[in-house]
Amino acid sequence: MAPTLPCNHPLCYLLLLLLLLLKPVSSYAQTSGKFSLGSSLTAQKNDSFWASPSGDFAFGFQQIGNGGFLLAIWFNKVPEKTIIWSANSDNPKPRGSKVELTTDGEFILNDQKGKQMWKADLIGPGVAYAAMLDTGNFVLASQNSTYLWESFNHPTDTILPTQILEQGSKLVARYSETNYSRGRFMFSLQTDGNLVLYTTDFPMDSANFAYWESDTVGSGFLVIFNQSGNIYLIGRNGSILNEVLPNKASTPDFYQRGILEYDGVFRQYVYPKTAGSRAGGWSSLSSFIPENICTAITAGTGSGACGFNSYCTLGDDQRPYCQCPPGYTFLDPHDQVKGCRQNFFPEICSEGSHETGEFDFVRMTNVDWPLSDYDRFQLFTEDECRKACLDDCFCAVAIVREGDCWKKKFPLSNGRFDSSNGRIALIKVRKDNSTFPLGSEGKDQATLILTGSVLLGSSVLLNILLLLATAMFIYRLNQRKPMIDESRLVMLGTNLKRFAYDELEEATDGFKDELGTGAFATVYKGTLAHDNGNLVAVKKLDRAVGEGDKQEFEKIVGAIGRTIHKNLVQLLGFCNKGQHRLLVYEFMSNGSLATFLFGNSRPSWYKRMEIILGTARGLLYLHEECSIQAIHGDINPQNILLDDSLTARISDFGLAKLLKMDQTGTTTGVMGTKGYAAPEWFKKVPITFKVDVYSFGIVLLELIFCRKNFEPEVEDEKQMVLGEWAYDCYKEGKLDLLVGNDQEALDDIKRLEKFVMVAFWCTQEDPSQRPTMKTVMKMLEGATEVPVLQTHPH
Ligand SMILES: *[C@@H]1O[C@H](CO)[C@@H](O)[C@H](O)[C@H]1NC(C)=O
Ligand SMILES: *[C@@H]1O[C@H](CO)[C@@H](O)[C@H](O)[C@H]1NC(C)=O
Ligand SMILES: *[C@@H]1O[C@H](CO)[C@@H](O)[C@H](O)[C@H]1NC(C)=O
Ligand SMILES: *[C@@H]1O[C@H](CO)[C@@H](O)[C@H](O)[C@H]1NC(C)=O
Ligand SMILES: *[C@@H]1O[C@H](CO)[C@@H](O)[C@H](O)[C@H]1NC(C)=O
Ligand SMILES: *[C@@H]1O[C@H](CO)[C@@H](O)[C@H](O)[C@H]1NC(C)=O
Repeated sequence: MAPTLPCNHPLCYLLLLLLLLLKPVSSYAQTSGKFSLGSSLTAQKNDSFWASPSGDFAFGFQQIGNGGFLLAIWFNKVPEKTIIWSANSDNPKPRGSKVELTTDGEFILNDQKGKQMWKADLIGPGVAYAAMLDTGNFVLASQNSTYLWESFNHPTDTILPTQILEQGSKLVARYSETNYSRGRFMFSLQTDGNLVLYTTDFPMDSANFAYWESDTVGSGFLVIFNQSGNIYLIGRNGSILNEVLPNKASTPDFYQRGILEYDGVFRQYVYPKTAGSRAGGWSSLSSFIPENICTAITAGTGSGACGFNSYCTLGDDQRPYCQCPPGYTFLDPHDQVKGCRQNFFPEICSEGSHETGEFDFVRMTNVDWPLSDYDRFQLFTEDECRKACLDDCFCAVAIVREGDCWKKKFPLSNGRFDSSNGRIALIKVRKDNSTFPLGSEGKDQATLILTGSVLLGSSVLLNILLLLATAMFIYRLNQRKPMIDESRLVMLGTNLKRFAYDELEEATDGFKDELGTGAFATVYKGTLAHDNGNLVAVKKLDRAVGEGDKQEFEKIVGAIGRTIHKNLVQLLGFCNKGQHRLLVYEFMSNGSLATFLFGNSRPSWYKRMEIILGTARGLLYLHEECSIQAIHGDINPQNILLDDSLTARISDFGLAKLLKMDQTGTTTGVMGTKGYAAPEWFKKVPITFKVDVYSFGIVLLELIFCRKNFEPEVEDEKQMVLGEWAYDCYKEGKLDLLVGNDQEALDDIKRLEKFVMVAFWCTQEDPSQRPTMKTVMKMLEGATEVPVLQTHPH
């Protein structure tokens, strides 16, 4: 015996010996994963379970959210104890419930009073033991190890590697992330051979609408989740009929599971087995079905992916998010799929009641409820469509697109945000929303007073007392109104978040990391803790700008927020508290065009062309296509940013409106940046969209030649201003001199010459000589010839 052992009595040694002898035996008993007749588990604590030999899986009772217990199987080495199967998901049981493998070979769940709640449906007699296997399969087996019941044959919402689904098998999504009760979606390998994802007629299980299917017919088909992590459908002859989820992750290093989630999406998750990388949790693999649940469901009945009167937006994380349209709020904020209700008193539809004047519209783009139509008009303008909906008390929303006008009725179903659909949604809301807090609650109080008065009829004194008591009651009710977290409020008609100043101070770590300074604002880098730690750029407007009218500010910010285009930097939110005026934008990881273009290495000619076209598109959208139709006023390489994929994104649009907010009518002097500002800024002439065309022309030249417009350092004075040098070269037919050693550009010299000509047109001194952005775009894309230049550009 080792001398360090704290033993100096023979009995002690004997005990130690016994312990050493017993240890392997008892640990075998604990981890063999086999449980004999008469074994039972009681729902008491989280540790009443049977583990598989490796300890990876456990079978037993798991306490869930509301305190009830599920008889379940879970990943036991994963800190989250992720549940993959349960017997009583619809009906969690209280403490004291018991599952027992009876001596006559039945496997039964009884509640605390001994009432039978669930029983394993055996395929034959003679159960000898139960076993939790290392695959995650829990089995009841006979003496000769034939499985008479397997959890793998009775899946709930999850499948595991090595699990096989036969025809007739189903996975049913749970209701919500934490509510395991049966939800609204099913994954079914039908007996006809079709593998289908469908919505159910919740709360019934019957199929409503198939939103994904393999389109296969036959028998003997299987869904296989194989060891390498592929999930696929095979035919009788073993050929793959559908690669359901062709993800790859090697099983030895990861725990894996495929799950039909509560949002209707079938996803595959992995979790690294190595203890070191625990922090990450489960991560979802790149392929899942359907690709966009928000648009996949188009059922005539049912609410769609989200609840009635709401709409579904696919987030950057590819998950659906349910939102209420402006003027609406969630019926139950804790259960958003229950849908949204109007925040205002609904329109009254009765003969002679003309409420038309009481309503107005909030305009949204790319939102639609495609299945709620009841009326359609063609060749209607937006104004005509508005009027048609306003005059109709059945009309809840009108949708306008290219002369078509659809009226939508309640409840709105299958709502979705789809940036490709180009529709305008006009949401009808009551103008006077001062009656917001008075909903049904307000009415009930009034009824209370009335009924009380009637009941107590004659006694004046009693009536007064009753009124007093009711008044007190209402007062208390109003006092109890929950505090609203102002920072989470979203501005009506936009997706803009209203931030508290503190929140932005925290997000930017006390305005520490400065990204840039402009004439009227400083931009800081920030991280939104609430928002998955997303990076943002926080623009703090100078006080002079911040002193304008508060409501006017919100109006302009709202308009900026509604301006969404892939070549514009999107505004995410704002803060408008006291003197603080801040704007929160998406963070552009590749910085500004200035750094990109004038940095150490020259970006490729093709990348530069893409940026040229992207910038032109963004500007065209601002000028002609969006609702604010704004002059940008300050196009320059500092304001053109580059996102992750180096796409050009124009920033700071709409700010011109903010700047001249205080001044009435005319402009506040020069806005643009020296070198890029059009000549008319310095003259007493009206400022038009053409100032942006001028600035674009300068930026275009810079992009073509990868040189700053103004280089005071150069030796030859004639080369100091790029535009003039380029014009000289052009006249002498020597543009290639300017191109230098840029071989890619030289190989594309025809296009280069065309772009230079466009730039000359854009920088004409007379604004009326300059083309519109629409023409510029056409010329750049080659849809229109570039006219021959007659006059010298400015
Ligand atoms: C059991 O686990 C749940 C969730 O994992 C936890 O909320 C609960 O506090 C645990 N109960 C006990 C007694 O440890
Ligand atoms: C195993 O036992 C089951 C019944 O317990 C019986 O139906 C089956 O034929 C047996 N299989 C073998 C291979 O003995
Ligand atoms: C789970 O959702 C179902 C269906 O809406 C509901 O009946 C049940 O009360 C919910 N359970 C919990 C614990 O919230
Ligand atoms: C799993 O399926 C994929 C696709 O059919 C195949 O390439 C792979 O070899 C399979 N892995 C195993 C372990 O069977
Ligand atoms: C296997 O069966 C499928 C249909 O079940 C059929 O389309 C395919 O041609 C078959 N493949 C072979 C090799 O027989
Ligand atoms: C009512 O809502 C509209 C937008 O729908 C908003 O412009 C207006 O300020 C609101 N009025 C009140 C009194 O809250």
